[in-house]
Amino acid sequence: MYYTDEQIEEVRSRNDIVDIISGYVNLKKKGNSYSACCPFHHEKTPSFHVSREKQMYHCFGCGVGGNVYTFLMEHENLSFPESVEMLAERAGIQLPQQGMDPDAKKQADERSKIKDMNKLAAGYFHYMLKTDRGAHALEYLKGRGLSDETITGFGLGFSDVYRDDLYQYLKSKGYADEELKNSGLIRFDEKNGASDQFWNRVMFPIIDTNNRVIGFGGRVMGDAKPKYINTQDTPVFDKSRNLYGLNLAKKSKRRGIIFCEGYMDVISMHQAGFDNAVASLGTALTVGQVNLVKRYTERVYLAYDSDEAGTKAALRALEIMREFEMPARVISLKPYKDPDELIREEGTKGFERRINEAISGIMFEIRILANNYNQEDPQERTGFQKEAAKRLSLILDPLERGNYVESVAKEYNISVESLKETVTKYGISGTAKVDTSVFRDRSSRKSPEEEKEQKQLKTERLLITWIINDDRLFKSLKEVLSPDDFFEPVYHDIVKTLFEQYEEQGRVMPAVVMNRFQSKEEHDKAAAIMQQDFDMEISEADKSKVITELVRSIKLRSVTHRLEEAKGDLEKTGKLLLEKAQINRIVISFL
Ligand code: UTP
Ligand code: MN
Repeated sequence: MYYTDEQIEEVRSRNDIVDIISGYVNLKKKGNSYSACCPFHHEKTPSFHVSREKQMYHCFGCGVGGNVYTFLMEHENLSFPESVEMLAERAGIQLPQQGMDPDAKKQADERSKIKDMNKLAAGYFHYMLKTDRGAHALEYLKGRGLSDETITGFGLGFSDVYRDDLYQYLKSKGYADEELKNSGLIRFDEKNGASDQFWNRVMFPIIDTNNRVIGFGGRVMGDAKPKYINTQDTPVFDKSRNLYGLNLAKKSKRRGIIFCEGYMDVISMHQAGFDNAVASLGTALTVGQVNLVKRYTERVYLAYDSDEAGTKAALRALEIMREFEMPARVISLKPYKDPDELIREEGTKGFERRINEAISGIMFEIRILANNYNQEDPQERTGFQKEAAKRLSLILDPLERGNYVESVAKEYNISVESLKETVTKYGISGTAKVDTSVFRDRSSRKSPEEEKEQKQLKTERLLITWIINDDRLFKSLKEVLSPDDFFEPVYHDIVKTLFEQYEEQGRVMPAVVMNRFQSKEEHDKAAAIMQQDFDMEISEADKSKVITELVRSIKLRSVTHRLEEAKGDLEKTGKLLLEKAQINRIVISFL
């Protein structure tokens, strides 16, 4: 932590969460809370809730939650100190600079400088495209069918043939050589000094989901090699965690996200109305990228090149999608090479048709498999069928598995019965390197200990919700229960803070509690509880009963646990046994 708790809390309290989130999400007021479709996952009915009273948000659909800081960290990809700084600035609060860890401050400065330089460079390249010197580049882009609107929308540009004009431009803006070197825009070597990284190319700025320019791709205008060069990895440009076009695709109204291979494919698709297209940045698809799109969509389409390399890439991508349980369909572009070509030939309608005809990832994998075997030869045919069965045995859902077995049997003329049997065999023996546990009933996999623990956590959770929602509880609780009685570490910390708040201010402030938690897991866990509300239609007598039960159960687990630990210590054991005997006398009453 680089700022004091007081600074963090002052900044938080001066930025109302409803105001902040309204800037990003269209919130509808409902009673005391505000709701919207969740900005962190794809959904049609709103399960994202923001409470002004608690100064917190929580999504019942995907489980994210937190206070105004967490929201900015998640939504804007900021670090914790960065989100504090952003909100301090918004509220006109001057944060002391020395409050920050010097190393962290240096890094944050460096990152922010690189983004500034990139933005200037993008502006410069775009400007050059419109000058006489860039006329042939503009002509090149127009020749590829791009409209002025598209060129502006994607901020396309041109890097001139001068060896160092961008260098001179950025120098004139006050950047030092050392800073320019970090940006990946300028190269330095002993003999020639500084020169621009991109030279005589049409430029594609790469923009992240927070609309910041993080890097560039540059294409030659002829047949020279390499065709594209991309910014090397810099402190702000991580190829494995960003996608070209996602800044626009995340706002698309279309269903799903379309993955393709090239910058030009993305641009062509967007121009043709498929504004949900994205591409990797000159590398194969990565786990980080799938993780990223998971926030915005629940299904993907693959529109990879129709050549062998493209097919291989699609198969690999499907593997990653499967790991993430992300449903994927594959679009066939044949006889065209890539989406750009297809759209040039067949237009929006043609591509729309291809989307509708897209086949599921599994059917695609099996089709590719089938091509590797001579279906006329009985031995090869059997080999194919076995491999197909292995693949089918990986499908977790039994209904889905059954449906695919039927489709595959039909398409490849196999008897449904024998295919089904083979699939089951592979599933059970795990020969297909399947986690066989998926073939057992999932709910029966929990051990009795695990179930007990889950019940315990639920008890702790419920009691915390009561503490937050009923001011009177604290007084009677503090006599019998301490934060240390809570087993789950996050819950323990919450209760500790709540008790302190009651003690010092006489009320709870849920959003302040959230300041304690730094990791995303902790944040989500805490936010889920803090945001819970009760249906208060329960009689005071019943309420007393319920809460008494909760307190006794928590106490019992805590004392039993401490007894275990005290084994051998007679004095401690004696005290604890006494405490245990008194548990059943605990009564919390509202009457
Ligand atoms: P392609 O070679 O398929 O190019 O590379 P393309 O997208 O069809 O481009 P055009 O239509 O010829 O202009 C696909 C992607 O692979 C990366 C780029 O991201 C490109 O968009 N790539 C390709 C490189 O990074 N370097 C290269 O030399 C070639
Ligand atoms: Mn192409």
